[in-house]
Amino acid sequence: MFSTQLVQKLQQAQKVAVLTGAGISAESGVPTFRGEDGLWNKFRPEELANFNAFQKNPKLVWEWYNYRRKLIHEVKPNPGHYALAEMEQMFPHFTLITQNVDNLHRVAGSQIILELHGNIMRNRCVDCNKIYQEVKIDFNQQMPVCRCGGQLRPDVVWFGEMLPEDALLCAFQAAQECDIFFSIGTSAVVQPAASLPIEARERGAYVVEINIEPTAISRYVDESIIGKSGEILPLLVKKVKETGLI
Ligand code: OAD
Repeated sequence: MFSTQLVQKLQQAQKVAVLTGAGISAESGVPTFRGEDGLWNKFRPEELANFNAFQKNPKLVWEWYNYRRKLIHEVKPNPGHYALAEMEQMFPHFTLITQNVDNLHRVAGSQIILELHGNIMRNRCVDCNKIYQEVKIDFNQQMPVCRCGGQLRPDVVWFGEMLPEDALLCAFQAAQECDIFFSIGTSAVVQPAASLPIEARERGAYVVEINIEPTAISRYVDESIIGKSGEILPLLVKKVKETGLI
């Protein structure tokens, strides 16, 4: 499953960085994007996840986000999310970077999270940019409006949009400085997140992938662990704790 070398390295590590993708939430029942059952096999990203589509048909885009919010609202974090929340407390420096918008890391207790693609539980005004945190979700209200009268949109990154600059900078800094980098439950094809494990490797980190199948970056990593993150991560945390941090 995982190597003794990884356990030893974790016992000595000062700086650990983790990148997660949709796969970490798969065991909670949140669909991933790619693959046979992936969202992008059933829905067209260009009609739902870009600003032009929103301007053209806000009702359709809101219906799609309300559908996803409802789904996410009904699920719970899984042991993989909880293991990462525990890891945050184990290392002097721990950086959790996620491409997920589902908020499940926060619900699991992770405290500092770099959300590269935003958060589906927040809204943002397209006119004044006001952010509405953890909005009370009214699934029947199809097109919410800002106090300024502007249209509200989900505070997520759509195709063709910039990623939040601060989060991205911190993510690259963590990748460049860490001793160990984990790429978990991501197909590692969407940039710039997919560059993070490569960057970490080039800067000398020990790079570990956890995924149910090989991905685009498998051949560049030091250790590829094939299996479900909700099973592997708790075992890894248990093993490191049993043997003790140095
Ligand atoms: P993908 O759907 O591309 O990939 C999910 C990955 O999770 C795949 O490699 C699966 O093999 C793996 N996986 C599934 N179940 C797993 C499990 N239980 N344990 C471990 N791995 C598992 O999702 P992302 O890589 O997150 O962007 O996609 C990146 C971005 O593409 C998303 O953030 C989204 C999408 O378009 C935007 O919306 C901007």
